[in-house]
Amino acid sequence: MNSLNKAGKKDSLDELISTVKKTENIPTLPKVLLKISEEMNGDNYSIKSIGELMSHDVSLSARILRIVNSPFYGFPQRIYSINHAIVLLGANVLKSIIISTSAFTLMKETMEGLWEHSLFCAFTAKQIAVALNARNKINGANKNTGNIDSDIAFSSGLLHDIGKIIIATTFKENFKKITDIAINDKRPLVDIEYEMLNVSHDQLGYMLIKEWNLPASVYLPIKYHHNVHLADDYKTEAAVLNLADFLTQALGIGYSGSPHIEKINGETLKILGIDIGFIKSVIEEIYSFKDELYIFD
Ligand SMILES: [Fe+2]
Ligand SMILES: [Fe+2]
Repeated sequence: MNSLNKAGKKDSLDELISTVKKTENIPTLPKVLLKISEEMNGDNYSIKSIGELMSHDVSLSARILRIVNSPFYGFPQRIYSINHAIVLLGANVLKSIIISTSAFTLMKETMEGLWEHSLFCAFTAKQIAVALNARNKINGANKNTGNIDSDIAFSSGLLHDIGKIIIATTFKENFKKITDIAINDKRPLVDIEYEMLNVSHDQLGYMLIKEWNLPASVYLPIKYHHNVHLADDYKTEAAVLNLADFLTQALGIGYSGSPHIEKINGETLKILGIDIGFIKSVIEEIYSFKDELYIFD
């Protein structure tokens, strides 16, 4: 029912989004991060000038290096130079790390565990993409999935619930009510947000990420991560994100605002063409990375 409402209320979503924009409550990027982000908007950005800008933010540089040197990335040699890290991670991952870094404190303050949920979801989404690509290579490309950009999957995983920050800051009084109802009624947060605010965190996150000039391959899966069946473009990527979100909750890593674990979207398994064996192998690969979540602390 909720999804039908969403599908039928596209116009009011646009209206609401412009209202949120006018309230100027959208989290903004710190100056240095904004400059880096602007520099990366061009196709021909210079690694050298981004490296230079980053050197002004010691903690950001340290985080980037910690991520690139984490066992999750598994590069054979230790990477010491920020310029080398920029090349290895690529513009989109770098940008999503920058955005999530600036939202990091806010995330920690507004929803304990949301940060861990987001980072583990990013690891998981990337792993699912890598596993699907490997399977397709062996079995011949699956007509639905094709090749999935695993770095894009990482970026959308990292930012998928960032809309919850807007709810926590823009709709302060409602935010507490929403989480209380979700906990007491054991219902998905997204449904209660929609009932109370006529907008939900997936839609707000989509707006925010679009505003920050990340590509559609990142913001469209975010828009549909709870309603994969409604996605047109990047449906596979939305399904990857839906599965990653589900696994992160099911494994009890971090906290996404409600103890209620939402079911996997009915279409996700079909779109990805996977069975329980595939899911088990993904879990085996990612579970050890739960110890990697300290890299941003
Ligand atoms: Fe979500
Ligand atoms: Fe989530």
